[in-house]
Amino acid sequence: GVCLGIAFGHRSSGPKNDRFAGNFKTVIISKCKAYLGLNEEQSSENTCEKVWDAFSGAYVGRDPCDVPMEAYDSLIHAVNPKAACNRMLFWSQTKDIVHQFTEAKKCLLTLEDTLLGFIMDNLTWCSKNGSKETFSTGCPGWSECEKNPVRSFWNRVSAAFAESACGEVTVMLNGSVDTPFRANSIFASIEVKKFSSPKMRALNVILVTRGNDTANCENDSLQNLQAVLDPTLKYTCTEVHRSKIMDCISDPDKPCGACW
Ligand code: APR
Repeated sequence: GVCLGIAFGHRSSGPKNDRFAGNFKTVIISKCKAYLGLNEEQSSENTCEKVWDAFSGAYVGRDPCDVPMEAYDSLIHAVNPKAACNRMLFWSQTKDIVHQFTEAKKCLLTLEDTLLGFIMDNLTWCSKNGSKETFSTGCPGWSECEKNPVRSFWNRVSAAFAESACGEVTVMLNGSVDTPFRANSIFASIEVKKFSSPKMRALNVILVTRGNDTANCENDSLQNLQAVLDPTLKYTCTEVHRSKIMDCISDPDKPCGACW
């Protein structure tokens, strides 16, 4: 119904927009298929169509400043990934290095290494009130309005990812900034609040440093992190020089255990 209307919408306004909407659907479906082809994950013939239906159903036809995170609930339920206990890697202000790391070493994985995170990483999308189309330009910026389709998506999938956290969990934080644990980051405002024992056992902070750095494991914001964390979770913090992680990334013979 709705979904075919977007891609092949003969009732939509013009050929240009129809083509674009079709392209966005094509990007989502092909990234979805590429991911499933590379990852042995249980899926069926129509998994990617189901992903598109649930995904587009969240924001198409809605005011781009009025898409709450709950709009993506059915997308989360459609995918329902299995948790990778002891291998989950969270991050904040360390996007480049964490993704280089998980690309090189398969011991840990981030949200962007799961199906939904992989598909949507680096994409922008929104629709309009009453529209059947998807746009990827002219959409509200991250902080322009809180309930925009992109921010709500990341909030919702991050909540689900953190809710599934189990065993020993790692987070890579940035030691080159004043506040490695930033209150309005997704990690602080959403993910940490979902961490709970006994399913999850420990949170291990890797604080990535550069040498003459502003932050260390005694940083005030890291004291805040410990204060808001479920007190029955074990907490550790390790300062690791960026170059040590980079060396590990570039040497395929170095096992994960040697990276910090
Ligand atoms: N403007 C634009 N983009 C932003 C902004 C902003 N003000 N704030 C965050 N983002 C987007 C950017 O794409 C950025 O790379 O969110 C990304 C992550 O922001 P960070 O502050 O680095 O980290 P955080 O908010 O903690 O989000 C990362 O959330 O998605 C989960 O599992 C993931 O643990 C990870 C965490």
